[in-house]
Amino acid sequence: METNKAYEEIISSLDPCAPAPEDEPFRQYYFIARARKSLAEVEAKLGRKLTFHVATFGCQMNARDSEKLRGILEEIGYVPVDTEEADLVLYNTCTVRENANTKVYGRLGGLHSWKKKNPHMMIGLCGCMMQEEHVVKTIREKYRFVNLIFGTHNIYKLAELMSRALDHPDEMVVDIQQKTDLMVEQLPVDRTYKFKSGVNIMYGCNNFCSYCIVPYVRGREKSREPLDILREIEQLVADGVIEVMLLGQNVNSYGKTLENPVSFAELLESVAQIDGLRRVRFMTSHPKDLSDELIAVMAKYPDKICPHLHLPLQSGSSRLLKHMNRRYTKESYLELVDKIRAAMPDISLTTDIIVGYPGETEEDFQETLEVVEKVRYDSAFTFIYSKRSGTPAAKMDDQVPEDVVKDRFNRLLLLVQNIGREQTARFEGQVKEVLVEHINEQDPGLVTGRMDNNSVVHFPGDASLIGQIVKVKLDKCHGFYYLGTQA
Ligand code: SAH
Ligand code: SF4
Ligand code: F3S
Repeated sequence: METNKAYEEIISSLDPCAPAPEDEPFRQYYFIARARKSLAEVEAKLGRKLTFHVATFGCQMNARDSEKLRGILEEIGYVPVDTEEADLVLYNTCTVRENANTKVYGRLGGLHSWKKKNPHMMIGLCGCMMQEEHVVKTIREKYRFVNLIFGTHNIYKLAELMSRALDHPDEMVVDIQQKTDLMVEQLPVDRTYKFKSGVNIMYGCNNFCSYCIVPYVRGREKSREPLDILREIEQLVADGVIEVMLLGQNVNSYGKTLENPVSFAELLESVAQIDGLRRVRFMTSHPKDLSDELIAVMAKYPDKICPHLHLPLQSGSSRLLKHMNRRYTKESYLELVDKIRAAMPDISLTTDIIVGYPGETEEDFQETLEVVEKVRYDSAFTFIYSKRSGTPAAKMDDQVPEDVVKDRFNRLLLLVQNIGREQTARFEGQVKEVLVEHINEQDPGLVTGRMDNNSVVHFPGDASLIGQIVKVKLDKCHGFYYLGTQA
């Protein structure tokens, strides 16, 4: 990638034997040079290049962080591979629900068998799960074959930590920070897609929804300076990106704590004005902070700002919402939806819903179903409540019995799927623009892309279309995707 060439020039001019500089990001450039030297020694011993694999769990934030991790590892000299049978495997973990943790522990077992056969292999763990003390304690005690552990606040330090791990392969390098005020940018990135990219506009979360662990593992909310964000997007556009997704746990509270406060709507409007950029998306929007100004900006740039809002509901019961500390009610949520639809009648709405929050009654659950029926989401992620230690909800003793939760979950799923199918199909027969992402995984004669509202479309085509926006006739909707033909 063009942007990484500039880093290469600086890094190759550094002396890895000189003392480490203090200032970031130069300190990391120095450690890239240093780790590169250590890696070259291992390569010489093994007589080949070394490979790495980063496995990502969790949300878009983690996906973006993994692109940064990969960028640094490639700059050090590791070669990316698509299998965990690699010389270095790094798990970028999630802990939002218990099953995310269980998966990591399970897969670590598999990695251990591989490592026994390949003693030079290195295993690293990072991300949200590592910010929990009990996790690090368990790994120190039961997974002693892990080489490297770091958290969410020091991802930018990967080169420094890798350098240490390469020089001390028999030790477990652990570096967890409880918080940071630093936002170290200007490091190499390896994007998954050449033509689209996530862009962090803020980090952390201040909302403390009663069930949620994110504020504890990602720290307090910090917004990036608008000029830094705009410059990054301009660089991405120069490097071939035509779609960006602005990322934050609650983008609607963006900019409030900056020295010169800027609203998310103002930021979004500036991004929409960037030449060469074709589409802007964002997530996630907390309903409590969604402003009229934002709705107006979205309606003003219908061809550039994607007509899609992910508006997590969590529950339709005002009583539970209050308990969850969501700071909106069923009524205010529905009013907001009306306002959005009045300004953008065709917009696609999607959501997240939790079933089985402590104390949830059948009446509460009925209210959730009622909101789903009224709003008619294009799609909804439905989750079974998972107790996260350290959150206020974990201390509540009226947990809903498992069989009741499962029954409610199935009823909800059926409803969201039925409505989702009908909603998704509303464009059948029309011609829409599709950004082609890849060759279809099942049928190599088809390509797969997304409409501006995020709906998936498959149509006959070849690799030359990847990264292009193509007009496609939506012939037939099959549940959650369309089959089409180039118009
Ligand atoms: N910042 C986003 C959500 C990030 S977490 C927002 O506020 O909308 C993504 C989703 O995971 C949440 O919307 C919620 O539905 C779900 N989630 C979070 N904690 C959970 C828990 N303890 N159990 C089940 N689902 C949970
Ligand atoms: Fe979690 Fe709530 Fe923050 Fe979303 S807004 S990350 S649900 S605490
Ligand atoms: Fe998971 Fe962390 Fe995202 S806990 S949902 S990866 S912010």
